[in-house]
Amino acid sequence: MAGRRVACCGLSFLAVTMIVLFLAITSVGVALITLLALRNAHSDPDPTYLIGVGRADCTGPPADIPLTAAGIHTRLFSRAFIVDDGKRRVVFVTVEVGMVSQRLRLEVLKALEVKYGPLYRHDNVVLSGTHTHAGPAGYFQYTLFIITSKGYIKPSAQALVDGIVQSVDLAHRSIKPGRIYRSLGTLEDSSLNRSPQSYLNNPQEERDRYKTNTDKQVVVLRLTDADGVGVGMLSWFAVHAVSMNSTNRMVSSDNMGYASYLLEEDQNRGSLPGEGAFVAGFSSSNLGDVSPNTRGPVCVNTGLPCDYLNSSCPVGGTKMCQASGPGEDMFESTRIIGHNIYKKAKELYGKAEEEVTGSLHAAHQWVNMTDVTVQINSTHTARTCKPALGHSFAAGTTDGGGELNFTQGAVEGDPFWDGIRDALLGEPSNETQECHRPKPILLSTGEMPGRIPWHPEIVDVQIITIGSIAVVAVPGEMTTMSGRRIREAVKQELDSGSSLNDTVVVIAGLSNIYTHYITTYEEYQIQRYEGASTIYGPHTLGAYLQKFRHLARAIAQGKESELERGPEPPFFDKLPNLLPAAPADKKPVNTRFGEVLEQVLPVYRVRDKTFLTVEVLQKTTSSWEVVHTDASWETRFHWVKGSYRQSNATVEWRVPPSAQLGSYRIRHFGHYKEMKGFRPVITAYNGTSAVFTVSQTYYY
Ligand SMILES: *[C@@H]1O[C@H](CO)[C@@H](O)[C@H](O)[C@H]1NC(C)=O
Ligand SMILES: *[C@@H]1O[C@H](CO)[C@@H](O)[C@H](O)[C@H]1NC(C)=O
Ligand SMILES: *[C@@H]1O[C@H](CO)[C@@H](O)[C@H](O)[C@H]1NC(C)=O
Ligand SMILES: *[C@@H]1O[C@H](CO)[C@@H](O)[C@H](O)[C@H]1NC(C)=O
Ligand SMILES: *[C@@H]1O[C@H](CO)[C@@H](O)[C@H](O)[C@H]1NC(C)=O
Ligand SMILES: *[C@@H]1O[C@H](CO)[C@@H](O)[C@H](O)[C@H]1NC(C)=O
Ligand SMILES: *[C@@H]1O[C@H](CO)[C@@H](O)[C@H](O)[C@H]1NC(C)=O
Ligand SMILES: *[C@@H]1O[C@H](CO)[C@@H](O)[C@H](O)[C@H]1NC(C)=O
Ligand SMILES: *[C@@H]1O[C@H](CO)[C@@H](O)[C@H](O)[C@H]1NC(C)=O
Repeated sequence: MAGRRVACCGLSFLAVTMIVLFLAITSVGVALITLLALRNAHSDPDPTYLIGVGRADCTGPPADIPLTAAGIHTRLFSRAFIVDDGKRRVVFVTVEVGMVSQRLRLEVLKALEVKYGPLYRHDNVVLSGTHTHAGPAGYFQYTLFIITSKGYIKPSAQALVDGIVQSVDLAHRSIKPGRIYRSLGTLEDSSLNRSPQSYLNNPQEERDRYKTNTDKQVVVLRLTDADGVGVGMLSWFAVHAVSMNSTNRMVSSDNMGYASYLLEEDQNRGSLPGEGAFVAGFSSSNLGDVSPNTRGPVCVNTGLPCDYLNSSCPVGGTKMCQASGPGEDMFESTRIIGHNIYKKAKELYGKAEEEVTGSLHAAHQWVNMTDVTVQINSTHTARTCKPALGHSFAAGTTDGGGELNFTQGAVEGDPFWDGIRDALLGEPSNETQECHRPKPILLSTGEMPGRIPWHPEIVDVQIITIGSIAVVAVPGEMTTMSGRRIREAVKQELDSGSSLNDTVVVIAGLSNIYTHYITTYEEYQIQRYEGASTIYGPHTLGAYLQKFRHLARAIAQGKESELERGPEPPFFDKLPNLLPAAPADKKPVNTRFGEVLEQVLPVYRVRDKTFLTVEVLQKTTSSWEVVHTDASWETRFHWVKGSYRQSNATVEWRVPPSAQLGSYRIRHFGHYKEMKGFRPVITAYNGTSAVFTVSQTYYY
């Protein structure tokens, strides 16, 4: 245990140095700062760790792909953080994607093995999704997700694999001696529990220990080089990245992505978005029941409150009960929530002084989640179930309702839908119905036929520790209280046997494989969306509590290498792509591809560097300098598919008040596809706007 703790001693020295440094800035000037910085480095010569950070684009094709299909609001990035203590190495990757799937993880680890041999493995690499809902689909290997993604879509999947691997490559290449400091704080006014009626079913004594029904905690790690210069920031905060609502059709990294964007912009002054050495990762956490839409749900047709228990409206049903805010539209809401998260992280980053020292650990197992016996108390056990989704799954949430007439909180089936289900997919077995009670089963995914299963059985459980920081990689969306129970259990194991109670445990959500939601046993009884989506039954959390405790105990005893590996997950061949092949693109007569005004510009190729640039004329050199790309917050790239295989690309630049005055032009870059006989030919094109002026009053 000795290795895992926060340094006690270097700390006070550091704080003193920082105060002196601050005084030096205000009174004496720059020369002294350099002097003091040197003294600091000199008197504390042994940096604790080797640290590497890397960021790479993983956007994929922004057109003709389900989930999001028509342009770019912001690009998506993968951000990797590598830490090495001289003996062991751990990697944490936060990816701007809905979730990490088992297929994605298997492909990434395969690619890393080819490049690095056994350096990066299942046990020491965590891949976590930020949970943006405005990212690509099509990178899953289980039937339910394959159907909802319209297949396994190679271009999407490959862009993600390549982007993640590239971010690890960059982090690997940047490794150098450094230090880590931690800081904790709370963020108010940026999250709301969207199933308070489920939360209230948790025991009173347990709820009394917490002030709020969502976690407001923000954990920040400041990563520096040996001289104390910041190289990166990693943080965790629990909120759904759904400020952009279901009407959005553009790729967007949403609120969490905007927080990364802002902190990186701060630290990489003068670089374009997605460029610059400093990497700021904002990771998801126990966000299962946490909405960013802080004005809460109302019936949008009448303005009246929704029904509390079933989130339905008297007129229009579930679909009309929508949560929104805090902004006037979804773009403003994304900006406000993202900015709040950024501001708090920046503040905590600025005052992170508690150094993290101690050895690294990594514990990992594969678990058959359909087959776990859970010890409930000294006399009773229970079991997890074959996967199944309940009726309320189809109701959706107040952050995005379902299309059909399902409502949340259903503890009885609906003869109409059950009849259709039985006829098409077969009736759930009595055993599975019994196991999931009180969930009325809509889809008994563990019992449906086919070569490829509908849901996974084998799931990753994993914990990595960096000194006194423990990262629990959770394979889904844990509710607030589920996350609290897991953190508490893991902390208890890690702190036991140690005289220090200083481990900070964080939940890294949407990690490694997607298994929907994980509620507490009590929340499950209410069967709102989250409970209906807890696919391994009422004892799912109980099973994870046992498994994560087991990993934490192994770490505390230094025995993680003795952990059983568990059953390996499958890797399915021949996954279907249900999308029709992209047809050849056409243009109206007497025009050319790339023609401005009549922009008939279908987007085709995967991972173009940018689809647009905003360029300013440099008077001194008469050259054009790129000031924005499609990764910029101020730009939007829309792709509208028309009839006759014609489509328009529109570039929007919302000129910010801070824009430099001068002459500008906007350029668009793309690819189109033609058939030459039976052979598809893909050609690059570009179009450039006329030069325009941004003047003092730029309203036009
Ligand atoms: C929702 O619950 C209310 C009572 O709380 C009920 O009147 C209403 O019919 C329910 N809506 C649906 C669609 O089940
Ligand atoms: C999404 O946000 C837009 C405003 O940006 C609003 O007009 C629309 O009603 C919202 N839709 C849903 C389903 O929340
Ligand atoms: C998981 O456990 C179930 C129940 O024991 C078993 O039927 C199934 O074959 C197991 N799955 C795998 C992949 O081992
Ligand atoms: C153990 O749990 C079972 C099932 O919930 C319950 O019936 C029983 O009373 C409990 N036993 C003890 C000793 O708490
Ligand atoms: C949903 O619609 C079907 C068909 O109209 C109807 O039979 C069923 O009762 C409805 N279910 C609910 C919960 O309203
Ligand atoms: C479930 O049990 C009932 C009565 O015990 C029986 O009639 C029914 O056929 C069973 N259903 C299935 C799917 O086994
Ligand atoms: C450490 O934890 C134990 C058990 O929970 C508690 O009794 C003790 O007061 C704690 N010590 C500190 C320093 O917090
Ligand atoms: C593309 O833009 C042209 C000119 O503005 C317009 O006439 C045409 O309808 C647009 N096509 C599509 C598919 O939006
Ligand atoms: C833009 O297109 C023109 C004409 O096809 C080509 O000559 C030029 O190289 C392209 N420019 C860029 C930057 O791709």
